[in-house]
Amino acid sequence: MNVLALIDELAQVGRNPSTGGYDRLAWTAADVELRAWFTQTAHARGLEVETDRNGNLWAWWHAELPGTALVVGSHLDSVPSGGAYDGPLGIASAFAAIARLQDAAVLPGRPVAVVAFADEEGARFGVACAGSRLMTGALDPDRARALRDVDGITLAEAFAATGRDAVHLGADDARMRRIGEFVELHVEQGHLPSSTGDDGLGAAPLGLATSIWPHGRWRVDIRGQQNHAGTTRLADREDPMIGLARVIIAVREAAGRERALATVGRVQVHPGAVNAIPGAATAWIDARAGEENTVRRVLADVARTTGFVATEESWTPETRFDEDLTAALNDAVGPDLPLLPSGAGHDAGVLALAGIPTAMILVRNPSGVSHAPEEYADEDASVLGVEALAEVIRLRSRARVLA
Ligand code: GLV
Ligand code: MN
Ligand code: MN
Repeated sequence: MNVLALIDELAQVGRNPSTGGYDRLAWTAADVELRAWFTQTAHARGLEVETDRNGNLWAWWHAELPGTALVVGSHLDSVPSGGAYDGPLGIASAFAAIARLQDAAVLPGRPVAVVAFADEEGARFGVACAGSRLMTGALDPDRARALRDVDGITLAEAFAATGRDAVHLGADDARMRRIGEFVELHVEQGHLPSSTGDDGLGAAPLGLATSIWPHGRWRVDIRGQQNHAGTTRLADREDPMIGLARVIIAVREAAGRERALATVGRVQVHPGAVNAIPGAATAWIDARAGEENTVRRVLADVARTTGFVATEESWTPETRFDEDLTAALNDAVGPDLPLLPSGAGHDAGVLALAGIPTAMILVRNPSGVSHAPEEYADEDASVLGVEALAEVIRLRSRARVLA
């Protein structure tokens, strides 16, 4: 099983013909197709597949063995017009690594599972890592069921449309007790400074993530008075677009002052007519930094300079990956792999916050671009990623070779 050949099998799933990126939002037809691919790929290698109460997919390699499971995997959904590797690289690498071990007649000493967490990007319903957060209990199921997409469809309805019952959503303690360790392999996203320099992994094909920056999402609602664009004097207007523009500029300036990263990547304007002053506008802010206080100062700054107070929709505190597991990965795959923080959120972070020893392997992305069609991982680095994951599974599952 070649990892990039597996990624290629998904080349047409959710492909956006006008951008060349992927629209693989949770619980859409594309997502259902990706999930079918997961099941088929797992079955081809004799793995047992199940879907948990939160819609996360699990493929078990020797589930019957005693002990807690070593879990590997990532997610299959994408942001709108996203790249091919963010998420799927981790899952394809996990399948390829297990196939490699099976071909070498290796038998794990404890259960091994490949997981595809549901709705990691939160691109449809607004809350990132919904599947893993529901599983750990970090996301209230009532809140999750009521989340709505841009068309007004609730998460519960979207979930039900794929043949599942959203009544079962919620903390899955029994499953959590089965997870001993989680290792997520992920394409590098951008080039944050690492232990070896300012350009992330640089020339190194692989690295390890040490932590995830504190980050969150906020919403700013700005009201106005809808009116005629051709008949309303400027002085008489209550135009929410002006406030919206101020918020966008304020976010950028506050991020610059605080050395944080903050983005307005989504806005909604009502009713959105060229010849009407809008009645309302909404902006969503994504803000991240190395320290929580820095992120909080960005939001406070925006409120102070614009007068608009943002409502928090989600928050993830700083997350540190397990030092022993990370050191073990470095010994197994390194030595001296670049270590870097992740500015991106991951299901691995959700599991780490829930107390599961967790680590992340990063695969070089020469484009330095992610959440966009240009996202990339080359053949050499990807194959090294699979070899690394196979070695990690071999060591951490206390595997032996069948005589
Ligand atoms: C997930 O990719 C995120 O937005 O951090
Ligand atoms: Mn992502
Ligand atoms: Mn991801």
